[in-house]
Amino acid sequence: MSILIAPSVLSADFGKLAEQIKLAENGGADWIHLDVMDGHFVPNITFGPFIVKAIRKLTNLPLDAHLMVTNPDDFVEDFRKAGADWITIHAEAPTHLHRSIQKIKSTGAKVGISLNPHTPLNVLDYILDEIDLVLIMSVNPGLGGQSFIPQSLDKICQLKEKIGTRNIKIQVDGGISTKNINEVAKAGAEVFVAGSAVFGKNDIPKAIQDLKNAVKF
Ligand code: DX5
Ligand code: ZN
Repeated sequence: MSILIAPSVLSADFGKLAEQIKLAENGGADWIHLDVMDGHFVPNITFGPFIVKAIRKLTNLPLDAHLMVTNPDDFVEDFRKAGADWITIHAEAPTHLHRSIQKIKSTGAKVGISLNPHTPLNVLDYILDEIDLVLIMSVNPGLGGQSFIPQSLDKICQLKEKIGTRNIKIQVDGGISTKNINEVAKAGAEVFVAGSAVFGKNDIPKAIQDLKNAVKF
């Protein structure tokens, strides 16, 4: 089973961001995950399109923008213009999720929908044919370095079944490490966000390879 690793810059040293992103890219990272937090949808503030534009110049890897914001519709165009290839918004955020999806599509970006740990899969029932990725949050969003919520495994299995033959990627975010990545992959996840398990380690390329090597099945 081939998996993709998307290191999250949330755990990077922003004073050495260019260097650390290069290390990740040369070390086998598949995407770069960008955690955008507004201090409203989640209890933390990170960065916006201005920083994404700067990061776009540092790497050729796909940029995966995870918008943890209350009003994503107001910003998707800006993130797309800044260079995001994948734009993921939370199902819990906009009132008119279907409309928000169309807005992302109109920019040409791939569409991701993220579900918080408490959010049931049935919110996807009438939008599954409109999207390219589902992001299962395996922690409550807002911070790096939290523990993986075990119920996420069952959720991923059920999501895989729900997706069936559709071309939709299952991404998982939160608490991923060499200790659990194999069972999460076995449950059906394909794209693994990893913050502390990559940028939190001294040897970034080795950390990425360790994650990839831990997937055995
Ligand atoms: C959490 C973010 C994650 C975070 C993951 O709100 O969405 O992407 O960076 O960090 P780790 O891998 O340390 O749990
Ligand atoms: Zn994230």
